[in-house]
Amino acid sequence: MDDYSALNQIKLLTQSSIVSSQLDIELLVLHLLEIDRNTLYRDNPPLTVEIRNKLKALTQRREKGEPLAYLVNNIEFWNLSLYVDQNVLVPRPETEILVQKVLEIFDKKKIRVLDLGTGSGAIGLSLAKERANWEVVCSDLSYEALKVTSKNMTRNSIDVSLVNSNWSSAFKNEYFDVIVSNPPYINPSDPRVYSDGLKFEPKQALISDSEGLYDIERIVKETSEILNNAGYLFIEHGYDQSDLVVSIFKRCGFSQIRTFKDLNGDDRVCLGKLNRC
Ligand SMILES: C[S@@+](CC[C@H](N)C(=O)[O-])C[C@H]1O[C@@H](n2cnc3c(N)ncnc32)[C@H](O)[C@@H]1O
Repeated sequence: MDDYSALNQIKLLTQSSIVSSQLDIELLVLHLLEIDRNTLYRDNPPLTVEIRNKLKALTQRREKGEPLAYLVNNIEFWNLSLYVDQNVLVPRPETEILVQKVLEIFDKKKIRVLDLGTGSGAIGLSLAKERANWEVVCSDLSYEALKVTSKNMTRNSIDVSLVNSNWSSAFKNEYFDVIVSNPPYINPSDPRVYSDGLKFEPKQALISDSEGLYDIERIVKETSEILNNAGYLFIEHGYDQSDLVVSIFKRCGFSQIRTFKDLNGDDRVCLGKLNRC
């Protein structure tokens, strides 16, 4: 008799897969059955024909390199469980460095914070969850991305304002105390954009002209208008862009510039304080 128990089906699919690990397939099963890992190993439930077909379809997508987060519509980031789909970038662990630095530098005093290019809401919603008294605004050019941010706001019971804006265009001058952004910063000619994983993510979230620096330059220039004097800007950038980003910050009137490394030891986040003359 065929053995349709979950653990046996996971074993068989792992053996016939090239890309998907056992853990990937296990997570797909947990997602489809809506159970946790303890229940899977304790009950080892049988998989119905319908679930087996769905599992096969999801495994085939995984075999083509689609991120697991899109297949299960979920990723854990900082203190949040976020819904994600192909309208938003899958939030990366590197970006948690930015969140950590903002929280280290700013205590519980009430401030106004803007997350430019919020996508799933990873940065802005994490900050708002940690600091309930901060006024947090999350903005994006993509209306579809903002629908995802809104879903995550409800899912995590967090209240922020959502604004559809082309970088700073919707905001009035000298309003925010802190602006944070993880903008697109990959050079369009970088072959990684077409590699497994990245090729499934929105190009608008990844690629920027001028060798990856067009959007960073725009943000630094524009935020020097909408930040309060002595306000702070935090920007995530590529591992090899630090020197250029620091020079853009200096050119746009920022001082006390610092760079923070990610867990791989690469320069990843630039911080500057606005010093308007
Ligand atoms: C690298 S993703 C970052 C998403 C999210 N903040 C994160 O860290 O996971 C960049 C985001 O910037 C948005 N974006 C791109 N161009 C923009 C523009 N001109 N104005 C506002 N947002 C923009 C994209 O839609 C995308 O959501």
